[in-house]
Amino acid sequence: MKFEFSHQSLNKIKADFELVFIQDKNLKKFASSANFFKLNNYKGEGICLDLANKKLFIELKSLSYEDIRLAFFTAYKNLEKLNIKSIKTPSIIGECVTRSFACLAEGILFGAYKFDKYKSEKKKSSLEKIIISKDEINGKKFDSDKVNLGLKRGEILAGATNFAKDIVNEIPQEYTPLKMAKDAQKLAKENKNILCKIYDENFLAKEKMNAFLAVNRASIYPPRLIHLSYKPKNAKKRIIFVGKGLTYDSGGLSLKPSDYMLTMKADKSGAAAAMGIIKAVCELNLELEVHCVLGATENMIGGDAYKPDDVLISREGVSIEVRNTDAEGRLVLADCLSFAQDLKPDLLIDMATLTGACVVGLGEFTTGIMGNNEELQNEFYLSSKKSGEYTTILHFNPHLKELVKSNIADISNTASSRYGGAITAGIFLDKFIRKEYKDKWLHLDIAGPAYTEKAWGYTSFGAGGAGVRMCVNFLMHLLRKVQ
Ligand code: BES
Ligand code: ZN
Ligand code: ZN
Repeated sequence: MKFEFSHQSLNKIKADFELVFIQDKNLKKFASSANFFKLNNYKGEGICLDLANKKLFIELKSLSYEDIRLAFFTAYKNLEKLNIKSIKTPSIIGECVTRSFACLAEGILFGAYKFDKYKSEKKKSSLEKIIISKDEINGKKFDSDKVNLGLKRGEILAGATNFAKDIVNEIPQEYTPLKMAKDAQKLAKENKNILCKIYDENFLAKEKMNAFLAVNRASIYPPRLIHLSYKPKNAKKRIIFVGKGLTYDSGGLSLKPSDYMLTMKADKSGAAAAMGIIKAVCELNLELEVHCVLGATENMIGGDAYKPDDVLISREGVSIEVRNTDAEGRLVLADCLSFAQDLKPDLLIDMATLTGACVVGLGEFTTGIMGNNEELQNEFYLSSKKSGEYTTILHFNPHLKELVKSNIADISNTASSRYGGAITAGIFLDKFIRKEYKDKWLHLDIAGPAYTEKAWGYTSFGAGGAGVRMCVNFLMHLLRKVQ
């Protein structure tokens, strides 16, 4: 899709179709279409398609970033099947000019996303170009220098999010830990500023990553620890993302019921998001050193499987009583977080589809933010809001900390109560965070928005690319603070 900004007024631009935005259900502005509205009984809500005049009327609920994204998404979805190549639209400016244009691009590119690899019939849209006029819907004047920057940012953010979606949507039969390693290497090859190191099971054994290795044992595919790094010359800070990369989670011997096993190809979403983030950071040339540490493995059953009752000695030396093999993500993350801390981060963020409890508590669309540093959590929350991702903070408390105690080891991988499962999982991870990194760490449970079995907002069925936009936005916010 090409985005083109034009210094011409809307009526001078030639295009196959035109977008017309309706605000406050006010149709008076469009007097020439009055009879058409009457015939269609259109009152300014939703959309109304005027094929004769090649116009699409779209309700714009507000000038919030989310409503701008939604309006352009809706426009794309209603026009994608028509035999047209170009669309013209007025500009829509919300609070910030750059971000408003980024939202335009995001809305269109999320509308255009599809995962149709396994469909014999592929439906391709003929739409190629969006021409944006300098005319603003409310007559606002703005600095057009910012337009292309905004559009580019939106393209990069949506591109990286859709890239993560493709990884998550790919089927477990294809997407093994080895395939994830290949994808990471490909990412490094395509971006000369990204480096990729792949570590195999022998390395994991040498590093005493026994918790990670235990999860992998019954899988026919070996595990991979993937380390991507981006180190620009003038890096202001070093940020490390750790991603849960369970290419399939059957639950292991604590086997999941069939209904719950379905969609567990999405248990690699944390790792996918981290890959999307480093791709975007590199394309945006952010002056931050960014690393991704990804733990890629399956959690399967077999004679060799790790068992409830096992005790594992993790890389940090903390012993873990396994009480449920389906609480495997925290085991993989424990060792990956240990590895990541050796890289001395200024900020350490892990992302994982960690608990069903998080989905029960927050619903399917919201990420749970956890950690020890309230200021950092609040800052992350506020920045995520603008990014278009929904988050909420889940606070630790000493009573929940009691629940992960074990009688025979340093900690249990399963809390003694099912209440507060998202937080007790976060508290488990906290046990592997060293004192000096306690305040530099955030845990993001993306179990809900990582994958939904129905389309919502401007997100299509399946993978949602959760984590990418909120983290990249937070990094840009951090840079603004230090500059
Ligand atoms: N991958 C799952 C969590 C999950 C569930 C993600 C639903 C997305 C949607 C995780 O490994 C898991 O199974 N967690 C258990 C933990 C429990 C055994 C303590 C859970 O949430 O039930
Ligand atoms: Zn599990
Ligand atoms: Zn899992």
